[in-house]
Amino acid sequence: MEFERIKQIPPYALGVVVAMMTEARKRGEDVINLGMGNPDLPTPPHIVAKMKEATDKPKNHRYSVSRGIPKLRMAICKWYQRNFGVELDWDSEAIATMGAKEGLSHLIYALTMPGDTVLVQNPTYPIHTYAAIIAGAQTIPIRSDSPEIFLEQLEEIARTGKGKILIFSFPSNPTTLAVELAFFERVVALAKQYQLLLVHDLAYADIVFDGYQAPSLLQAKGAKDVGVEIYSLSKGYSMPGWRVGFVVGNREMVTALTRIKSYLDYGMFAPIQIAATVALDGPQACVKEIVEIYRRRRDVLCDGLNGLGWAVEKPKATMFVWAKIPEHFASMGSLEFAKRLLTKGLVTVSPGIGFGPFGEGYVRFALVENEKRIRQAVRGIKKVMNL
Ligand SMILES: Cc1ncc(COP(=O)(O)O)c(C=O)c1O
Repeated sequence: MEFERIKQIPPYALGVVVAMMTEARKRGEDVINLGMGNPDLPTPPHIVAKMKEATDKPKNHRYSVSRGIPKLRMAICKWYQRNFGVELDWDSEAIATMGAKEGLSHLIYALTMPGDTVLVQNPTYPIHTYAAIIAGAQTIPIRSDSPEIFLEQLEEIARTGKGKILIFSFPSNPTTLAVELAFFERVVALAKQYQLLLVHDLAYADIVFDGYQAPSLLQAKGAKDVGVEIYSLSKGYSMPGWRVGFVVGNREMVTALTRIKSYLDYGMFAPIQIAATVALDGPQACVKEIVEIYRRRRDVLCDGLNGLGWAVEKPKATMFVWAKIPEHFASMGSLEFAKRLLTKGLVTVSPGIGFGPFGEGYVRFALVENEKRIRQAVRGIKKVMNL
């Protein structure tokens, strides 16, 4: 059987490397997995405790509310006010989602019709592109080597009248590129000028280092007129398996997502929503502790690679290191180089091509193993570099 929609979505590029890793591990090889960005740190205990307590109450076993219980939506708005000074109406400008991925996918489905054109930052987290493709939209990649190149490209394409929506994300996965508020102000101005809707993914809002603070799109004046922002509790609160995130901002866009989700789901399991409320409203020291662990891992990896002569910059944000393939191996391409790192160095990384055509020439390291294991990874990479 063949399904047209499925033919549009290729298997994950990382899948090939993960399959090789699984085989190597079966053979007993100790592979360090810096491939998938799957946070390894436990969810903070007070959040887990709340989940347990709420699970014991039978009233929480019923269908919940598709758009999120009021207390969670209120906590989301308070969190935005505390972190960014942005005012949101909890009832009309915030919706809880089953992670950022689900929220983004259904939002794009709600906002587009087949044949619409969506502009998508590239390279980027695959669902940014595939949410549009799954919805039957056309996509145009916007290069994001730097904020300046992104803005130039965006204006060039928007000027042609192509594009209904822009999907983008800063701090970026995989490039780790981080921006200042002036960047969002310029994007909002372009959106108003060229009638674009903005969908900004702020999944890495909290994973920031060395004094850098990630701005919110909604801090830009007038952003709510044209856009929404998506946040995920997977990273800052280390809750990836819980599947909890939210979408906030423009009322019409939030309402569109609310409508579609009211048909598709009954909301997250209530204890997850209650625990997420506690995460957002409760003590925030846990977020700093999580960030500090990623910072130390970042330093170990970057110092290690630089020590081998593989020049990489320390990122200001995210849980990744985006590394240009060393000159000597550049002609191999990112997939073959990732395979080489796996077979000869026993380290799994994500090939840049998996994040879109403009990701070629790079590999991405995810900081999801401890410092000792990252040191071991550097020793493995040394063997590859010396071959
Ligand atoms: C940019 C970005 N958005 C969203 C997600 C996933 O968020 P969630 O777990 O809430 O679906 C990731 C995970 O790697 C990501 O990198």
